[in-house]
Amino acid sequence: MRSKLVVGNWKMNGSRAANASLLTGILEGLDNARAKVAVCVPAPYLYQCQELLQGSPVAWGAQDVSCHPVGAYTGEVCMSMLQDFDCRYVIVGHSERRAYHGESNELVAKKAKAALDAGLTPIVCIGETLEQREAGQTMEVVDAQLDAVLEAVGREAVDKIVLAYEPVWAIGTGKTATPAMAQEVHAALREKLRACNADAAQNTLVLYGGSMKPDNAADLMAQPDIDGGLIGGAALKAADFLAIIRAAQ
Ligand code: 13P
Repeated sequence: MRSKLVVGNWKMNGSRAANASLLTGILEGLDNARAKVAVCVPAPYLYQCQELLQGSPVAWGAQDVSCHPVGAYTGEVCMSMLQDFDCRYVIVGHSERRAYHGESNELVAKKAKAALDAGLTPIVCIGETLEQREAGQTMEVVDAQLDAVLEAVGREAVDKIVLAYEPVWAIGTGKTATPAMAQEVHAALREKLRACNADAAQNTLVLYGGSMKPDNAADLMAQPDIDGGLIGGAALKAADFLAIIRAAQ
């Protein structure tokens, strides 16, 4: 039985004051949540998360990382820096990085592998654009995204990654995939994981992301292959994030 995981992706939002109030609100409202919970925050706030969340049930992580270990890569943040702040997770391949920073499937796969090698759990994002969905290419697109990662991490790591299916057309748009639409893709992804490593695939967490809100979270997460959520906008309000965490159990 897979436990649920709810992850807040703050994207480029936050301030020291706003984060303190959001994190305190989440910690105060958690009351014995059964779902696992994490927040992925902008790199400058990892220290604040470490200070505020250490010893709590809420884990933290980053939203991206370099595939290089160290060196002359201005503006980048490497894996050992995330380890310095006790990150458990790092998002790789978010569609915003793929779209605005030209990240390829191969680069995303390298980042996932580097995260595993460093003992962090990569949350690997995959998903199709509206154009691709309308052209009937959804599975072709997500298969290629997942294939690159599986090839890089190897079959023994199938349950060491977290996969997040985030249809690009549902991100920040208020348009959510229906539970049935999401389940269809999640089931196909699980099948693919199974073909790679049947035993491990039972344990791989596959999250849904894209306009998940308190009012649709329970139906989405009730689907057999949806193991939680990667939440953008609704993770910025403690009450909404808590409602989604409750919907996960
Ligand atoms: P929204 O929940 O704001 O649609 O964002 C989803 C997302 O991109 C999480 O990574």
